[in-house]
Amino acid sequence: MVYRYLISFTALFILAVSCQKEEPEPTVEDGPTPYNLPNPFNSIPAMEEPDYNPTTVEGVKLGRKLYYDNILSMNGLSCSSCHLQGSSFTNYGTSPNGLEIPPHVNLGWNKAYGWTGSVTALDSVALADLEEGNIFLNANNDTIKARLLAHPEYPQLFEAAFGVDIAAISEDERKICISFALAQFIRTLISSDSKFDKYLRGETTLTAQELGGFDIFMQEDKGDCFHCHGDVYNPLWTDGLFHNNGLKSTHTGDDMGRYLVTNNPADIGKFKTPTLRNIELTAPYMHDGSLGTLEEVVAFYSFGLQDSPTIDPLMKKVHSGGAQLNPTEQAALVAFLKTLTDYTFISNPDLGPP
Ligand code: HEC
Ligand code: HEC
Repeated sequence: MVYRYLISFTALFILAVSCQKEEPEPTVEDGPTPYNLPNPFNSIPAMEEPDYNPTTVEGVKLGRKLYYDNILSMNGLSCSSCHLQGSSFTNYGTSPNGLEIPPHVNLGWNKAYGWTGSVTALDSVALADLEEGNIFLNANNDTIKARLLAHPEYPQLFEAAFGVDIAAISEDERKICISFALAQFIRTLISSDSKFDKYLRGETTLTAQELGGFDIFMQEDKGDCFHCHGDVYNPLWTDGLFHNNGLKSTHTGDDMGRYLVTNNPADIGKFKTPTLRNIELTAPYMHDGSLGTLEEVVAFYSFGLQDSPTIDPLMKKVHSGGAQLNPTEQAALVAFLKTLTDYTFISNPDLGPP
């Protein structure tokens, strides 16, 4: 619907320009340049982008600028204040709503967004951020419009990306363009250069301890982590599904998790499995940030599991507290998790501030 509107708006705009000018701007005539999203992994299909918001060079450029700009907020924050490149696009600590800030890494391959999967399209995630007085940005749409219009670059950047005149489009259309552009930029946040990726490509070796940790991760009678967090065939390091991993024995408020979206009692306490890619950089851990270090996480899975009616069947040793990993095994598991850090990604200038 919305896309069709944008398209017809684009068509109208091209017509209007052609009527006024002898030589219409070539960018408007030709439309934006397709951006080919790479797939560095041979074990998963290419990233799917929706027909209504194809990734383009101009869209990514606009999205990147908006991502790093506090022009969208009334509190001085930008997306990048909470989603910092050096921390795999998260930030230490929880946000004003008490939830841990999730990283932005390989998100274009995800199917659901937020801890409870409340948003199903990356393209609409930022729409919530742009609601008046939103808790993260305290957005005010009249102010945003005035600032964008007064800006030396944004009007042209919107025109190049979507063929729209931000002075003329409605508030809803403006929000959609902003959200679409941000999604396009987030799709380019692709990480494929961790030590473990390099090991799989035969470019480096792992230490005995790291390999031992990977074994524990994979063995069903040891860590048994891979069912939810993926294996060598799943470079996303998440199954993208919702589970109760035994963090709490009772669930109220935000701890209700996926239930808040589905209203199904079987979903109480379930959260989207977080990616383990760059996990070393994204402390604190769990939806509520209640575990401060990877050592604490691994100790939790070893002895700290809490039983409740919706506990995942994979947490089969819950009655004895968990996987019972001894200190040497716990240290090895942590060493393996640290091989998932991608330093190329967090220092790639193309993903940083424009
Ligand atoms: C004040 C901190 C803060 C700011 C500013 C912020 N975010 Fe977030 N972001 C969060 C938190 C917290 C969540 C998790 C929300 C949830 O699960 O309900 C989140 C979730 C997300 C997700 C989903 C990630 C996933 O793994 O599912 C995306 C995408 C996202 N934010 C994009 C943005 C964009 C784009 C902006 C700027 C318009 C932005 N964020 C600004 C804190 C912030
Ligand atoms: C049944 C599925 C499942 C299994 C098995 C599982 N996890 Fe998780 N893991 C989750 C879920 C779901 C969360 C998020 C829970 C929450 O936030 O309340 C999580 C969170 C984490 C986190 C914190 C991520 C973050 O960004 O906050 C780490 C680290 C982690 N798990 C590592 C492991 C390790 C290591 C193992 C094996 C010992 C393991 N997991 C086994 C589902 C699972």
